[in-house]
Amino acid sequence: TNPLVAFGAGKVILLGEHSVVYGYPALAGPLSFGVTARGVPARSCQLDVPATADAAQKRLMRKAFSRAARLVGEPKVKVTLEPQLPLSAGLGSSAALAVALSRVLLQAAGRAPSPKETARLAWEMEQEFHGTPSGVDHTTSAEEKLILYRRVQGPAGVVGRAREVKSPRALSVVVALAGARSPTKVTVGALRERQARWPERYRRLFAQVGRLVTEASKAVEAGDLEGLGDAMNVNQGLLGALGLSSPALEDMVYRLRGMGALGAKFTGAGGDGGAVIGLFLEPGPVVAKLTRDGVRCFASQLAGPRPHGDRS
Ligand code: PMV
Repeated sequence: TNPLVAFGAGKVILLGEHSVVYGYPALAGPLSFGVTARGVPARSCQLDVPATADAAQKRLMRKAFSRAARLVGEPKVKVTLEPQLPLSAGLGSSAALAVALSRVLLQAAGRAPSPKETARLAWEMEQEFHGTPSGVDHTTSAEEKLILYRRVQGPAGVVGRAREVKSPRALSVVVALAGARSPTKVTVGALRERQARWPERYRRLFAQVGRLVTEASKAVEAGDLEGLGDAMNVNQGLLGALGLSSPALEDMVYRLRGMGALGAKFTGAGGDGGAVIGLFLEPGPVVAKLTRDGVRCFASQLAGPRPHGDRS
């Protein structure tokens, strides 16, 4: 029998992190790299955790894996993981892992996993990793497209609604890592307390972000990258107002703007540090310069036509 191989893409949120938890839309796209899972026939259903993970991450991975394995009837497969993404950098490594594992488990159970079925199983794992995530990470990873995502509370719990946003132009970002990252649980939890105390004030800000996201997705569809960049800059201002930014993140945002970014903001949880994205027409020279200056960074095309043969 052939070994099973499945991929789960990392993601970046272009706009709308955090407010997406409260039911407002977010715009997110897949990275071209993520996590690969391989399965070989075995006596029982087992997971080989990556050596690079720390003890807490390993424990969570095992827990999430058993939850998903039970749901597909514990197929007799041994799964190994190959992450190409930094773990816990805000680039959706846990969702990428959940999607890769879901696909391999579904294949091992003799099913051809559709994006919807994959997302449903990955969602079970994400709840082990994150508690109450919005679902934008694993949905973007399972769909592998630029999507407008909204969390909807149904009678059977949270369901995500996603629709593809097509870009007539290549949409490329530079992702740069700045400072030490705060755990998503911490930033999400602190914001939850502030918004519970002053609900009207925070609701206004979330609603403003939601409108920016709608405008940004229209700008993408119209090929208006300047309009998209401006919406990203305003979103960054509102993330600051929500108390989610920091000197390390702001420094990197201004650095990318100084290098000609059409728009720049942090992506994901924010807090003390983490990933910052800049929208660039030509990301190559920016990555070269930042790398020379010692910044961990890479470029990724999130949507739009690709030059022939290019996967980055
Ligand atoms: O864990 P991160 O950095 O990818 O952030 C997730 C995005 C949040 O909106 C902050 C949380 C969520 O569940 O959507």
